[in-house]
Amino acid sequence: MPPVQHHGAEADGRLGRALDFGLLKRLWVYLRPHQRWMWRGFIYLLIGSALRLLGPYLIKTLIDQNLTPRTLDGFYPLLSVFMVVVVGEALLRRLQMVAVDTAGQNALLDLRLALFRKLQQLPVSYFDRTSTGRLIGRVTTDVEALNEMFATGVVTILGDFLFLSATLVILFNLDWRLTLVSLIVVPILLFVTTLIRLRVRKAYIAMRARLSQMNAYLHEQISGMSVVQQFNRQAKMVGGYQEINGGVRDAQLASVRWETGLSTAVELLSSFTVALILWYGGGLVVETQLGANTTADSALTLGVLFAFVDYMQKFFHPLNELSLKYTVLQNAMTASHRIFGLLDADDHLPVPEQPNRPRQVSGEITFENVSFGYDPKFPVLKNVNFDVKPGQKVALVGATGAGKSTVLKLLTRLYDVTGGRILLDGIDIRELDPTDLRRHIGLVPQDVFLFEGDILENIRLGKPEVSTADVQEAARRLHLDRMVERFASGWEEPVLERGRNLSAGEKQLLSFARVMVASPSVLVLDEATSNVDSNTEKVLQEAVHELMEGRTSIAIAHRLSTVRDVDSILVFHKGEIVEQGSHEELLQADGVYARLVRLQYGSQTMDS
Ligand SMILES: Nc1ncnc2c1ncn2[C@@H]1O[C@H](COP(=O)(O)OP(=O)(O)OP(=O)(O)O)[C@@H](O)[C@H]1O
Ligand SMILES: [Mg+2]
Repeated sequence: MPPVQHHGAEADGRLGRALDFGLLKRLWVYLRPHQRWMWRGFIYLLIGSALRLLGPYLIKTLIDQNLTPRTLDGFYPLLSVFMVVVVGEALLRRLQMVAVDTAGQNALLDLRLALFRKLQQLPVSYFDRTSTGRLIGRVTTDVEALNEMFATGVVTILGDFLFLSATLVILFNLDWRLTLVSLIVVPILLFVTTLIRLRVRKAYIAMRARLSQMNAYLHEQISGMSVVQQFNRQAKMVGGYQEINGGVRDAQLASVRWETGLSTAVELLSSFTVALILWYGGGLVVETQLGANTTADSALTLGVLFAFVDYMQKFFHPLNELSLKYTVLQNAMTASHRIFGLLDADDHLPVPEQPNRPRQVSGEITFENVSFGYDPKFPVLKNVNFDVKPGQKVALVGATGAGKSTVLKLLTRLYDVTGGRILLDGIDIRELDPTDLRRHIGLVPQDVFLFEGDILENIRLGKPEVSTADVQEAARRLHLDRMVERFASGWEEPVLERGRNLSAGEKQLLSFARVMVASPSVLVLDEATSNVDSNTEKVLQEAVHELMEGRTSIAIAHRLSTVRDVDSILVFHKGEIVEQGSHEELLQADGVYARLVRLQYGSQTMDS
């Protein structure tokens, strides 16, 4: 097995900058169609923030105009205005969050679709190199990180800065000395939060890596559950999981520890500021009320003191959130980095701009000096040459791992040759539109893959427009109707994920019917190696016959009965064709084929 290189493995535990304008610009592409909601949210935010700034000022007025002089003049009107402001602010906050989230969710919808589309376009070789768990992570966890960005209001971070600046302007206007005293704590706050943030960031890196590891492990375990149980690996697997699981807990705990440390520090500093205001401002208020030291600019009213406490608390709130939003933003940037990494993956089968579109395909297949390796350093096929005339039937035989299935994968361009060329009716298959190519060449794969749905849907897979009557006709020719009759719901019998509820023989018949319905001019068949009873064997054999009828066929044969009926047999050995001829000729030659037949089928089958 050549070593495989994993895409994106390096990126899973890495953190980027919190702000990457290149990435933001690309995210904006998805937000732009929904920007109306963004702007709406931003306007709500501005009005809401203005109301929020107005609140403490109204209370200050209330204290200085009514409470201190003990008069009710204008008390109730002011109180009503205060109520309106508070309620308005709450409503606007909600509207703003809904608006921003509407834009965000719609953008994420588009992004998830783009990711899914991209996955559909990537060549099979990409999936050989990239773990499924990791790819699923792109579409789920990474998109979720972006979702959090909208949910926590990171996008309104600009509004936070506006709010902070406006608060400062108001405070300075109310009393500049008290403002300076209140702000003493801010440098300490910035220093402490930056310090802790670095630790939060480190913990987050560890957590990301652990979670991604856990996803990959889970995915593999769930897909391989039957093997796990068959080989009694449960305890071992739980042990492996426990280790990763413990790692996730430790990483989560570390991140929580630092995050809560951060909010505690902010809270403490905020209370400390209140104490400072009360200490310095309280003294001034008492002096003012006692009439001592009452020059006009050193006087401080109780209302202003209250407003300071209120404003400073409102000031600390976004400051505290800034550090939280910073982390969220950082996660979102890391996630977008990976998401766009997948979207930018430039693996693709080269597709001609102006594909050759032959009117009719007679079905001649030619391999010219074809070489190929899944990893170019380890060739799997070497200099393969053969020619199948229209309507001819050819069988490929050879030991396991000889490269037979690979020949078929190259023929349908799931992979591209690394040397030589493959021709369909004399045209290099790379000059054809792959969609056309796969219509002309029908593949029955070695491992049948069925999708969730019913029997009909699964048969119609390649040609959804085919009528039910045609599906049933094709099925009858393959004697599939007898099988369907046994199902409780007949044609509507549900097929579970991967066809779990069907037997190996049933699945094979279904996959034959799929190709029968698609009616390609060339049939390539990778006979399944699974053992079926002799009755099913006979049914499958007849079905294969029926499928091959009137088509150029290339079949990888594991059953002697298939081999005997073909025009020519190609014997593969370690990626090369070592013998070629009819069954009788090859037996006569007494070479690799004769040995294979003796080994695989035993002498009694040979005589029959
Ligand atoms: N996706 C892949 N990535 C890397 N190597 C692969 C891949 N698929 C197959 N191989 C390797 O290529 C070689 C040929 O595989 P292939 O599937 O063509 O064998 P085969 O002749 O069809 O065998 P069998 O009779 O068991 O089906 C094997 O050594 C196999 O390990
Ligand atoms: Mg194979």
